[in-house]
Amino acid sequence: MTHNHRNPLIELCGIRFGYPGSQPVLDRLDLVLRPGDRFGLVAPNGSGKTTLFHIIMGLLKPDRGTVSLFGQTVSTEKEFAPYRSRIGLLFQDADDQLFSPTVLEDVAFGPLNMGKSADEAVALSRRTLSFLGLTGFEDKITTKLSGGEKRLVSLATVLAMEPEVLLLDEPTTGLDTRTKETLKAVLNRLDIASVVISHEFDFLTATTDHVYTMENGRILLDDELHIHVHEHAHRIGKQPHRHV
Ligand SMILES: Nc1ncnc2c1ncn2[C@@H]1O[C@H](COP(=O)(O)OP(=O)(O)O)[C@@H](O)[C@H]1O
Ligand SMILES: [Mg+2]
Repeated sequence: MTHNHRNPLIELCGIRFGYPGSQPVLDRLDLVLRPGDRFGLVAPNGSGKTTLFHIIMGLLKPDRGTVSLFGQTVSTEKEFAPYRSRIGLLFQDADDQLFSPTVLEDVAFGPLNMGKSADEAVALSRRTLSFLGLTGFEDKITTKLSGGEKRLVSLATVLAMEPEVLLLDEPTTGLDTRTKETLKAVLNRLDIASVVISHEFDFLTATTDHVYTMENGRILLDDELHIHVHEHAHRIGKQPHRHV
């Protein structure tokens, strides 16, 4: 099924990016994410998955190629700024996301920054925490949370901004099995276009509709990919699969 009538939320064209003094991490990379799309991304460490998310957010600037968000080509800081709150990035490392003393302050920061009143921001934050099963965490000290709790609070800070796109960089890190199940249910209740990076194949198949991989700086969208994913599924575990 094609959805070409739905205008892209994110469109990357011919992206090339290398860290200073290194070979390109991303090279001739293309990606189109449209409303309703839910993509999974599984690829070995160092493939450039996190770099890709940082390019989408404008935290890194591509050496070549174009980034378009909501139909606008963006390259300068000023051009990216208005779109950042519409795209929720869950950082790979929760310590990059959480910086306020308490959970409620951290979750309310985004909504306040977007111009909500204090009352609205607090109400929205409480609702978001409740949605994630974190009622009662409001006054906890963020630095004292467990890894899994930090992960969920980070997600709360992202969801409280009511983004139109979610970019989740290894959301299951540090989560126990039960919390992972909660997260699966939460993601399936949300109606937001998303790209989810994870090494957990069953998590991706449960929360996304297409699973892609990265190789040589590009996202594989073709038949090769299915073979790769298929082999990958075997290596990770023996989940049921279909031959392609
Ligand atoms: N800040 C950085 N400076 C230099 N090299 C980096 C930096 N961040 C990542 N890299 C390198 O870029 C490559 C891709 O990294 P990354 O995007 O984090 O991959 P992934 O998320 O797929 O594990 C790796 O080889 C990594 O070592
Ligand atoms: Mg990464």
